[in-house]
Amino acid sequence: MIWAPKMGLFSIPMLGFLLFCCLAVTAEATYLKYKDPKQPVGVRIKDLMNRMTLEEKIGQMVQIERSVATPDVMKKYFIGSVLSGGGSVPATKATPEIWVNMVNEIQKGALSTRLGIPMIYGIDAVHGHNNVYNATIFPHNVGLGVTRDPQLLKKIGDATALEVRATGIPYAFAPCIAVCRDPRWGRCYESYSEDHKIVQAMTEIIPGLQGNLPAKYKKGIPFVAGKNKIAACAKHYVGDGGTTNGINENNTVISLGGLLSIHMPAYYDSIRKGVATVMVSYSSWNGKKMHANHDLVTGFLKDKLKFRGFVISDWQGIDRITSPPHANYSYSVEAGISAGIDMVMVPYNYTEFIDDLTNQVKNKIIPMSRIDDAVRRILRVKFVMDLFENPMADLSLANQLGSKEHRELAREAVRKSLVLLKNGKSSNKPLLPLTKKTTKILVAGTHANNLGYQCGGWTITWQGQGGNDLTIGTTILKAIKNTVDPSTQVVYNENPDTDFVKSNKFSYAIVVVGEPPYAETFGDSMNLSISEPGPSNINSVCGAVKCVVVVISGRPVVIQPYLPTIDALVAAWLPGTEGQGVADVLFGDYGFTGKLARTWMKTVDQLPMNVGDPHYDPLFPFGFGLTTKPHQAEPKSH
Ligand code: GLC
Repeated sequence: MIWAPKMGLFSIPMLGFLLFCCLAVTAEATYLKYKDPKQPVGVRIKDLMNRMTLEEKIGQMVQIERSVATPDVMKKYFIGSVLSGGGSVPATKATPEIWVNMVNEIQKGALSTRLGIPMIYGIDAVHGHNNVYNATIFPHNVGLGVTRDPQLLKKIGDATALEVRATGIPYAFAPCIAVCRDPRWGRCYESYSEDHKIVQAMTEIIPGLQGNLPAKYKKGIPFVAGKNKIAACAKHYVGDGGTTNGINENNTVISLGGLLSIHMPAYYDSIRKGVATVMVSYSSWNGKKMHANHDLVTGFLKDKLKFRGFVISDWQGIDRITSPPHANYSYSVEAGISAGIDMVMVPYNYTEFIDDLTNQVKNKIIPMSRIDDAVRRILRVKFVMDLFENPMADLSLANQLGSKEHRELAREAVRKSLVLLKNGKSSNKPLLPLTKKTTKILVAGTHANNLGYQCGGWTITWQGQGGNDLTIGTTILKAIKNTVDPSTQVVYNENPDTDFVKSNKFSYAIVVVGEPPYAETFGDSMNLSISEPGPSNINSVCGAVKCVVVVISGRPVVIQPYLPTIDALVAAWLPGTEGQGVADVLFGDYGFTGKLARTWMKTVDQLPMNVGDPHYDPLFPFGFGLTTKPHQAEPKSH
């Protein structure tokens, strides 16, 4: 018998037993099945949803803009997601540390709620992490489609995921898998091709962004492989690239068969590859707003294609169900949520949205089952990407932002995206590849020394911007200077007159012209002209000396009037920060390999005109591209 003071009930063994019971009860009380990563995702979802109030469920369906996402708002309204709108940054030229601190500040607000559900932060990383200073800016999709290289796209996805995570963000609204059928559309550069088969192939960027699917994988389930990967977003569902005359957010008039054969196939591939989210298009199909289209969002995407991730609206997409937008908000909320939208990109009037939706559920206008479907899908994505286990961001990947390796990958993508449309006025006297060693050359044109122009829209700001200070990269002029022989004099004159050109006796000239940056509706164009003074740059230079014209544009532009004057013509699209890739090929360190992924029209009156159309009379047909052999010498390393 162990000596024990006369404590009766409170003998040491009894105290021990009581302590054990307390610990057991405490352990039981603090064990929350949904927080246990050993539990199957379905079990965690069910357990968590059983604990959630209507307010907490509706909060998960709300995505607000970072500028209004204070920790208090996150906590008070149980907000499930936050985004950076185009160009919305915590500071000018913000470092990864500033980004990570901002994301974590908002996350702490979400985690301070009763159930501690982490928020998911999304951003448009559509050609690299394009909002962020010093990020690698890859060619826009219009150029990547030319490469016809799915493995390259996968590497770009991998690099982009690392750079997005470098700033603490786990979700990107990419890829855009629009099939642009009319280059007058302001977003045509976000489309890989007019040919859905190329767009389908380019969905290989999704496993780059999200990670390779595991061996036993159930089709349709979202998949994101941990902290070096991010959730992707196939957008904009469906038919965004098929609107009448390319008018943005307008009406896609096409049969169901046409919709399914042209605009839908890349969604099959995206779902097969485990895409975590799908964003609905602002556009309409045969007069029905996609944001209100139950048949296509629920009936087809969710029920027929078995998509099990979450469907997100576009920015104020619910509001734009009516014309004018927000004209009847309750109708819009009912139509959008009933159609099958799970998360709503509000982004500012979240209290109005929450109140309206709560009302409609309480008044049984919107069934609780619809709310539960939405929340289940949102939680599924958050669970599969380990957001509950790793809600806080860190700086472990900070050095990935704009890394040399990623910039070299972007440079390779630039090389493969170039299309040689003309090479010399007579076939036996090609101008390209250019000689590196000569006396004096001229570099001219509005886009030769303009990093912002060569990056295009969705770069640092929503619309993009001119100049060389917006981020870090290599202009085409700098790339040319890097590449020519040191003895070659490079003269840069943005807007030379003919006398200047003639009097200088240049060996040849490189004229870089094109379009200014733009995004969305601001890019809609009914004339597709090269911006002034580009045409006069071409005429004053090419009329006086052998010239190669490099076109920087988000789509084919009207070039036929100048073609007779031009000796060589290169389509460079929107190459991004790594302009060195242009010089690599102009000077023969690499050969031209690119083939048009879009039809190049003669005049805009011909549009829309796509490969396979009966009346097909292009200036340069889909699939066209001249080739050159690289110089024998080893490529110069920079
Ligand atoms: C924009 C675009 C969409 C983008 C979203 C968030 O309006 O339509 O592509 O992902 O809003 O910036």
